[in-house]
Amino acid sequence: MACDKEEALLTAPVPEIGGPTEGEDVVQTPDITNTYTYADLPVPDYIIRENEEESYVTDAGATLGRVLFYDRQLSVNRTLSCASCHQQQLAFGDNAKASAGVGGRTRRHAMRLVNTRFNGGPGFFWDGRATALTAVALQPIQDHLEMGFSGINGKPSLADLLERLRGLTYYEALFVAAYGDAAITEERLADALAQFVRSLQSFDAKYDAGRELVENDGQQFPNFTEQENRGRALFGSRPQFGTQGGRIGGGFGCGACHQAPEFGIDPLSGNNGVTASIAGGLPDESVRRSPTLRDVFKPDGSENGPFMHNGAFPNLIAVMEHYNNIPADNPGLDARLRPATVPQNMNMTVAERDAVIAFLKTLTGTSIYTDPRWSDPFTN
Ligand code: HEC
Ligand code: HEC
Repeated sequence: MACDKEEALLTAPVPEIGGPTEGEDVVQTPDITNTYTYADLPVPDYIIRENEEESYVTDAGATLGRVLFYDRQLSVNRTLSCASCHQQQLAFGDNAKASAGVGGRTRRHAMRLVNTRFNGGPGFFWDGRATALTAVALQPIQDHLEMGFSGINGKPSLADLLERLRGLTYYEALFVAAYGDAAITEERLADALAQFVRSLQSFDAKYDAGRELVENDGQQFPNFTEQENRGRALFGSRPQFGTQGGRIGGGFGCGACHQAPEFGIDPLSGNNGVTASIAGGLPDESVRRSPTLRDVFKPDGSENGPFMHNGAFPNLIAVMEHYNNIPADNPGLDARLRPATVPQNMNMTVAERDAVIAFLKTLTGTSIYTDPRWSDPFTN
């Protein structure tokens, strides 16, 4: 149940930015002549977490999901697709702090959709409010800020979208292949989008190559540099604190929440002290989930920020500075980050900080950014 404060936050007016103008009413046809595999993509055997009870992916379902994900017909004025905010070259995230939707800017930063299926955590979104990907998939479509089929105040509704999709000839064969007949329903729309999102996985990082060579995450990775192994140890091991909340030994305890080897999040995590809302106003204290820390770097070695639900940190040095000395307390701050009566102070050295960042760089894969199975079928 959303508390009043959260409710107020989610319904607070957001300044109009004069979003994109009406898209051209020219129907583009997707190129789906190449068929790709999505079902049973290889997942390393050390990956054990699954977020949903029913987590299936079929080739035909995800193929349809891919077309829907990239189709700008899914927004009221035909200007935006899911991929406008979840871009493949950014591991299905956005480099804008707040993304541009049809009715203004989003209230939170768009999450990278990487290994969403394996992330763990109390549900989906930054606050864990959705429990199934099928529910997540329809929310942006119905959000008046994002894609605009809200059905509120005379605005077009989801039923209008289904009617629009029925008029697009390329969907017929795709729905038949996925579901046996051409009926376009809300359930099928949600299901196909969820299947495509579930298929987005990234397990080809330097970390994975190393993890294959050892028994568990506590061991030295033979393919890592000394700095990367040091960062891995600092990330994974618990800190020892003195009576004033200052660190006197051990690591930084990041792995207690961002648990290896998925690097998703502990379902019991509280918030991490980053509570400022993007649009200002009431603090956003309900955030206690993070996307996986995989792919916080791009394959070219540059950072894939900004980071946190409010995009407040442009880079990982700023992230590390936050955890080094958490500036403010709040009732939802995770107890692990408040070892004494005050938020933690890690007494981090520059070498320690840089070692953790070097380790985070080993969590970046390549295929998620480049594999054509996840690419835009409308680009010809
Ligand atoms: C206008 C930008 C925008 C568009 C368009 C958009 N999203 Fe998102 N997406 C976001 C934002 C912002 C969040 C985080 C929202 C929050 O936590 O409240 C998000 C979160 C998600 C998540 C949750 C991931 C997780 O790990 O919890 C999924 C899944 C998702 N979006 C899928 C989609 C799909 C599918 C579409 C198209 C139907 C779509 N999005 C369209 C901005 C967008
Ligand atoms: C008590 C649990 C907890 C611990 C410990 C923790 N984090 Fe986090 N972390 C979170 C939560 C919750 C978020 C999402 C917060 C937000 O967006 O406001 C987050 C977000 C992040 C992000 C941003 C992810 C993104 O996609 O924007 C990074 C990077 C990160 N943490 C790194 C670390 C590092 C490095 C450490 C150790 C120094 C650490 N975290 C320790 C809970 C934790």
